[in-house]
Amino acid sequence: KPRGYAKGRARKQSMKIIVTGGAGFIGANFLNQLVTPLPQHQFVNLDKLTYAANLGRRRALDSLPNYALRRVDITDMKAVDAVFDEVEPDLVVHFAAESHVDRSILGPREFVRTNIEGTFNLLEACRARWGKDEQRLFHHVSTDEVYGSLGETGLFEETTAYDPSSPYSASKAASDHLVRAYHRTYGLPVKITNCSNNYGPMQFPEKLIPLMILNAVDRRPLPIYGQGVNVRDWLYVTDHCEAIWTVIEKGAVGRTYNIGGNNEMRNIDVVDTLCNIVAEETGTDPGELLALKEFVTDRPGHDMRYAIDASRIAKECGWEPKETFDTGIRKTVQWYLANQEWVNDVRSGEYRKWMDANYGDRTG
Ligand code: NAD
Ligand code: DAU
Repeated sequence: KPRGYAKGRARKQSMKIIVTGGAGFIGANFLNQLVTPLPQHQFVNLDKLTYAANLGRRRALDSLPNYALRRVDITDMKAVDAVFDEVEPDLVVHFAAESHVDRSILGPREFVRTNIEGTFNLLEACRARWGKDEQRLFHHVSTDEVYGSLGETGLFEETTAYDPSSPYSASKAASDHLVRAYHRTYGLPVKITNCSNNYGPMQFPEKLIPLMILNAVDRRPLPIYGQGVNVRDWLYVTDHCEAIWTVIEKGAVGRTYNIGGNNEMRNIDVVDTLCNIVAEETGTDPGELLALKEFVTDRPGHDMRYAIDASRIAKECGWEPKETFDTGIRKTVQWYLANQEWVNDVRSGEYRKWMDANYGDRTG
């Protein structure tokens, strides 16, 4: 039976928590879910604010006393050291990454730098300050893509051999190996979660679901790679965030947990569902939106199927997803329709200027 971490954590009534990548899709949802209900903990969002970041113009978090932002590039070791000296974290939850597979195919260098070198810098910062202290924890947020592709049957288990296909997944695999090596070699307290495809509010519209929603609304083509028969296991983002916090509290040190939604869908079926819901929510003829579908050249090295066996996290930590695909996808469409300002911001160069003007030299 794995050694539990819960006892150690329970002793810390109040933690100083660095959340890397807290201005991105999942990190922002994680902070929105936790900062207010957990006022006993201090949260510091350590983010470079790349193209993928969005803080929102009326960001509620900024006014909370237990939240702060530090604009830091994790590939810059000096900057990482400075913020670690300042915060003296008990817990690091590491989301920051270059996250889009297509971008990694077009330009892999940033993926190697941020995902591998950036993770290495954070591990070094933790090792130098924490040693083997089990009151501390480095929680590494990773992906099911490290396992490569499944055939028609089978599920990814935590023991499945790594077999990444894209520069993105290879860089995430390398970062997982480093995290595990720091535990085995130096005794650094770490945990790793490997999660399936997330969807929900605040996802950058380069990813399948928000791209299709917004293109359908704008009556633009819906580009489907290959035949649209690739399968992903979709998980609503708040379920992922809850799973991470559950593993932090109840998971065992040095252990890996897969997280998934039990929602396997072919891409073509996801797109059809989205067309129908967007049509319903906007009072449009679904046929008009379905006619926007276009089959385009396939992604090189496109993994055919991902599916997660999430029985370990269920059994050892008691986590299960709350949302079904039906409930989560409708909420997601409604969120994009209701948040036009957010959509305009992420699409607009003016917003980047606003971010730099407001957060460019912000260290406090
Ligand atoms: P995202 O691209 O939406 O956000 C990434 C965030 O990291 C952004 O705020 C960006 O500014 C920041 N960042 C990038 N490079 C940085 C650097 N050098 N220094 C500091 N900050 C930097 O990503 P996401 O979809 O929220 O994914 C978050 C994490 O979850 C990633 O590690 C990803 O691999 C993992 N993950 C994502 C999914 C998914 O479906 N999106 C599924 C499983 C795991
Ligand atoms: O599985 C977890 C991973 O899920 C995360 O680690 C990644 O960060 C995240 O981006 C996601 O990767 P995918 O490549 O699966 O997600 P994406 O939304 O880019 O694509 C989902 C599927 O849809 C995939 O089979 C490719 C296809 N696709 C994607 C786009 C953007 C299309 O058919 N057309 C598109 O325009």
